[in-house]
This record gives sequence, structure tokens and C-alpha cells, in this order.
Amino acid sequence: MSPVRGREDDAPRSAPRPPSTGAAVLRFMAGSLAALLVVVLGGYFALRSVTIAEAERDTRELVRIDGQLVQAAGLSNGLKTGDRRALERLDDLVQGQVLGGSVVRVKLWTADGRILYADEPRLIGRRFVLDEEERELFETGGSEAELSELGRDENAFERGERRLLEAHTVVRLPDGTPVMFELYQRFSSVTASAERLLRALAPPLLGGLLVLLLFQTPLAWSMARRLRRGHEERERLLAAAVEASSRERRRIAADLHDGVVQDLAGVAFGLAPLADEERREGRPQRAEVVDEAVGRLRQGVRDLRALLLEIHPPTVAATGLEAAIEDLLSPLRAAGVEATLEVEDEVAAGGRHDELLYRVAREAVRNAREHAEPSRVSVTVRRTTDGGTGLRVEDDGRGFEGAERDRRRAEGHLGLPLLEELVAHAGGTTRIASWPGRGTLIEVEVPA
Ligand SMILES: Nc1ncnc2c1ncn2[C@@H]1O[C@H](COP(=O)(O)OP(=O)(O)OP(=O)(O)O)[C@@H](O)[C@H]1O
Ligand SMILES: [Mg+2]
Repeated sequence: MSPVRGREDDAPRSAPRPPSTGAAVLRFMAGSLAALLVVVLGGYFALRSVTIAEAERDTRELVRIDGQLVQAAGLSNGLKTGDRRALERLDDLVQGQVLGGSVVRVKLWTADGRILYADEPRLIGRRFVLDEEERELFETGGSEAELSELGRDENAFERGERRLLEAHTVVRLPDGTPVMFELYQRFSSVTASAERLLRALAPPLLGGLLVLLLFQTPLAWSMARRLRRGHEERERLLAAAVEASSRERRRIAADLHDGVVQDLAGVAFGLAPLADEERREGRPQRAEVVDEAVGRLRQGVRDLRALLLEIHPPTVAATGLEAAIEDLLSPLRAAGVEATLEVEDEVAAGGRHDELLYRVAREAVRNAREHAEPSRVSVTVRRTTDGGTGLRVEDDGRGFEGAERDRRRAEGHLGLPLLEELVAHAGGTTRIASWPGRGTLIEVEVPA
């Protein structure tokens, strides 16, 4: 069988064991704390975006009002030509009424990007490219505000500030020429108010969540414990069921052996001389009938003994793992299947899990016989690298799909699931891989 990916069950499997109660609770608490962190961080950013939006609105309002003030009292046509008197008049108004507080810069722009006035004289007369939104403002009117990109050339003199909000509105010179009034406001007041809000909200929020966590922890603890107990209970029941079934088999085997089998053997023994007698007395036909009856009785006794072996095989402990598995293979060989067994010497000496390995081999071989129609079956038992024991049963039969297994399982056929549970109970792993049309591989590893 080439190592093609199996259709299902290709990964090593073992029935999941529940983690220890302490680990489960720790995991729960770590999860809760992570959730707490997400809530706090999420809260901070949500608050921040709300306060930024709020601040932008306030700044938009501020630029509109200041723009009206400047249009009414500070603008004259001379600004267009850089007239000194016009500049001084506007500067007086700006320095006196607009700047100060959180407003740190004022600029007045023409539609083609020339700075007519700024409270920073070095900017006056310089030209920069207006961005899309600013150009649109000349057509639409109104006002807008946004976070400043302090890296832009026009902001070379504002870089001393950490973060600024800039707002624009369009006003008109006395001759009707539209110009853009722009102011810059400090942003620190915004973050400060978000942090203030958060500082006020965080303690009750965190406290509440912590209290919730404290209440939940004992609950989680008891749930994890109950889960674990349930799991242990299930394992105990399984072991008890397996034990009960083999006890029952032993009883039936003993009853059959001591009762019917002995009786039939006795009858056959008693009848056998009768045939000779009849023959001596010249009644060969009668002798033949008796012979046939004796033959059938003997065959019946042989069949019964084979059945006894099947329902109560000699214990692995008595015969050794190799011989016990060899017995499993003989019916296959009788049916013309090439069946091979390879047991490493180290393992043949016997180990603690021999009984389990035998059970696994028995189920796997029985499945191959009943479902696979194989031409070849091989069983190998080896020492694993970590000192445990590995059993591998491989056939080249028809294989199966996951769906087929699920269906059989739903019908109450538990051969493979029981096997997996038993192996997991012993701390081992099971791998079941099947390739429809090509065969099946069952691999089990149990620890030392
Ligand atoms: N070696 C195999 N080759 C082909 N099909 C298999 C093989 N082993 C198992 N199967 C398929 O998987 C199904 C489930 O196997 P499982 O041993 O769990 O139950 P079962 O053999 O049908 O019944 P039970 O073992 O309870 O007598 C089988 O019915 C069969 O269809
Ligand atoms: Mg089966």
C-alpha cells in the first residue's frame, strides 16, 4: 500500500482525555482575562474615535464663526496685492480675537493655493498645492475639519506641535473674491478628554468584570471536575462491561465444555463399537448408518470445540502473544489468504499490554475476514522508539469510507470504536486509515 492519504481517520487518534481540573480552570481564566483586555482596548479606541468626531465637529463650528468674524471685520481687497495696511488690519484681528487658547495658526488662501496672509509672516506669498477637498470647498462652501498631516510642506512651521486639527471655510473679500480661511487647533485636548473619560469609566468597568470572573471561577472549577468525573466513570463502566462480557463468555464456554461437549463425545464413544458388532453379524447397511452417525457426532464435537476456542480463547498470558495471534490467522490461511505475522523478539517476551494488543489484533483480523475479502493480511508487532509497543494490521482488501463506518456504528457495531476506547484507556493511540478499493491499515501504539 503506497502512502496515499487515507480517506479518513488518517491522523493518530485517541479518545480525548479531559485536562486536569486546575489546567481547565487556568485556561478559562486566561481566556476571560484576554476577553477583558479586548473589552478595555476596544473601549479605549471606540471612545477615542467618538471624541475625535466630536472634536472635529467643534472645530468645524469654530472655523465657521471665526471665518464670519474675519470676513466682517478683517478683510480688505488690498490683501490680494500684499498691501501692508491690509495685512496689519487682519493681523490685529487675528492676534486679538482668533489666536490664543487652543488655536495656534491661521492662514488665508486664494483658490489657486497662494497664502495671502498667515500669522507666521514667512508663509505670506508662498504657494502650495491645495488638496482635492480644499479645492472643492471653494465650489460647495461650508466648512470642514480633519487631522493635519504635519509632514506637508505648508505645515513646516507647525511641526513643533504634536498633533493638530485643521479646519477650513470659504469667506469673501469685499470685492467678492472667494478666499479660504484656515485655522489649526491643538489636538491634545481631544486625547486628554478621551483619557479622562476612560479613567473615569475603567475602574467600575474593570472591577465589575473582575467580580464576574471571581464568581465564575468556582463555577468553572466545579464544572471541570464534574466533567472529569464523568469521563472517569465512563472509562470504569467500559472496563467493567468488557470484563463482564468476557466473564460471561467464560461461563458459557465452561458450561458447553462440561455439558454438551462431554455428552456428545461420550455418545460417539459408546456408539462406535456398535457398528463393528452389526458388521460382524452380517448387517453392513446398519453398520454404515451407525458409522455415519458416529462420524457426524465427532464432527459436531470438533466444531463445538472450535467454537469454544472462539468464544473463550486461551489467555494470552498462557500461550504468549505470538502464538495467540498465530491462532487468529489460521482461519484466514485455511481460506487461501496469504497471512503473515512478524513479532520482534523483544516484544515476544511478553508485556503488560499483551491482552489489549491481542484484542486489537483479533478485531482487526476479524474485520479483514468479514469485510475486506483480502488476498494478503500482515500483522507486525514491534518495539516503538519510545519503548512502547506498536501493532500494525494491514490488508489489501476493499477498504471502506468514513460514511460506511459511521453507518455501521449507528447500527450498533462497535468493534472499532470500542477498540479505540480501550487503547486510549491504556494511554495509547490508534490510527485507522482506509483506502477504498485498496486496503485498510490499523496501527496501535501503547506506552511502555
Ligand atoms: N479491514 C476492513 N476492510 C474493509 N472494511 C472494513 C474493515 N474494517 C472495518 N471495515 C468497515 O468498517 C465497519 C465498522 O467496523 P467495526 O469493526 O467497527 O464494526 P463491525 O465489524 O461491522 O461490527 P462488530 O465489530 O461490532 O462485529 C465495518 O462494518 C466495515 O464496513
Ligand atoms: Mg468488527
